[in-house]
Amino acid sequence: MGIDKNRAVRGGCSEPTSLAILAQPLEFIHDDHLRERHICAMIDEIAQHHMKEGAVRAVLNFLTNELPLHLQDEEEDIFPLLMRRCEPEDEIELAISKLTVDHAHAGADIPKIVEILEKLDAEGAKPNETESSVLTHFIAHSRRHLILENAVILPLARARLTDADLNNLSIRMGQRRSVKPPQEKRHEEHD
Ligand SMILES: [Fe+2]
Ligand SMILES: [Fe+2]
Repeated sequence: MGIDKNRAVRGGCSEPTSLAILAQPLEFIHDDHLRERHICAMIDEIAQHHMKEGAVRAVLNFLTNELPLHLQDEEEDIFPLLMRRCEPEDEIELAISKLTVDHAHAGADIPKIVEILEKLDAEGAKPNETESSVLTHFIAHSRRHLILENAVILPLARARLTDADLNNLSIRMGQRRSVKPPQEKRHEEHD
């Protein structure tokens, strides 16, 4: 499929998700999730004292610049769109209420993670046992969250959102990032 074929031009998940694919907003979200999984692996390395040069700074940039926008994309646009478009048999309410609780926990945890990483960055130090444990818990929650979103949210969004929804979504995500996404010609199938 196109996802892997286009991976090279998208820049891979070691860099922020490419704004060039904003016209395909669900592909953008998919790539954001690959990026988040990559960042979780980096945090794991930091927690286990195997971090590479520049890793702490890279994770800090992700947590402060990229992740808040991703959480907003989901909470302000994708979740409400799914609530509107899904059928009763999709049982979307349950998944979204779980994911919204996760986001609230992440919102409370991220400042603590940032504080730990800023201290490590300033001191050029490795995390102590308590700090490693906080980092490890954070990535365990994040990974569970990603699994649920990839298994439920993205497939339902691909099945249920209309072309107009996708166009609006790409405009909203572009505005959030101060860019105007190119219009995509849509030919997805919808009932
Ligand atoms: Fe997500
Ligand atoms: Fe999420």
